[in-house]
Amino acid sequence: MSTIGKTLNQFIIESQRAFPDASGDLSGLLNDIGVACKQIAHLVTRSGISGLGGYAETHNVQGEPQKQLDILSHDIFVQQLGWTGHLAAMISEEIEDVISIPTRYPRGQYLLAFDPLDGSSNLDVNVSVGSIFSILRCPDSTTQPGMKAFLQPGTAQVCAGFTVYGPATVLVLTLGNGVHGFTLDRDVGEFILTHPNLRIPQQTAEFAINMSNQRHWDSPVEKYIGECLAGADGVREKNFNLRWVASMVAEVYRILMRGGVFLYPIDERIRQQGGRLRLLYEANPMSFIVEQAGGLSSTGEQRILELMPTELHQRVPVILGSSAEVARLIRYHQKPE
Ligand code: F6P
Repeated sequence: MSTIGKTLNQFIIESQRAFPDASGDLSGLLNDIGVACKQIAHLVTRSGISGLGGYAETHNVQGEPQKQLDILSHDIFVQQLGWTGHLAAMISEEIEDVISIPTRYPRGQYLLAFDPLDGSSNLDVNVSVGSIFSILRCPDSTTQPGMKAFLQPGTAQVCAGFTVYGPATVLVLTLGNGVHGFTLDRDVGEFILTHPNLRIPQQTAEFAINMSNQRHWDSPVEKYIGECLAGADGVREKNFNLRWVASMVAEVYRILMRGGVFLYPIDERIRQQGGRLRLLYEANPMSFIVEQAGGLSSTGEQRILELMPTELHQRVPVILGSSAEVARLIRYHQKPE
């Protein structure tokens, strides 16, 4: 009998046993992701000591400056997952095109979309960062998966997760059957199931939004936040609390722990580009997790998981979290003042 609790590996294998025809590919892939995240956790913790916390002299596909750890974390994902035979292709926030599996390795049946180090602008201030991932099935007829293979709605995700590198490193996972959190036990080098069956409270009095963008917002968001700020003196008749970490993994983790609503809505500044956050490796996996934990996720106008992607690095507005608050925001979008 183990005295340390259920490991990620044990959880994955037990989940696989519910599907007697499963090939074991997904289990192997999840195990590989766990190993990649442990390596990144190690790098993040040591970045101050190793001098790797700073900027590289490069920019990612969206023109954002890259941190050295963005590039290293991307490399860890590609190296760790490219050779084991579970993936047919990958896409990363850091690279414009689809990443093919080298022909010397066997090719698997899954596609992986990932953001290797979300919130990395927070590294130098020692605030939580994380890795986000989404797993899709590779369409049967595709022999050389390119962009089109990845253009599947979020409802097609087989699995989604993220790892937050905070005071503790925690990997959060859904296989479409609830959401489970695993804390890294550094002494034994294993992720241990510490947060089974996470549920987001329906009601909340906490919201997260970058208030400095207020003057650019559309009226539904302006109205909603205005009412939160009015607190007990306004129509909501209760006081709200504002939190903004500027690291989506940390915000979603907080919402999973105690409820809340997170908004990166469309605004005048970013209307042209469709939003701020990326659909395939940020909004979709987080929406899958939030919905599986009983929350809601929307652009304000549409359920995020039902959007049909048209580009690999497409951006979307994101409103997610406690269902009562997201439902209210959807109502405000349906009937703008
Ligand atoms: O990629 C995105 C990200 O770092 C998210 O983790 C975070 O929510 C957002 O950007 C912060 O954006 P801003 O700096 O515009 O508030």
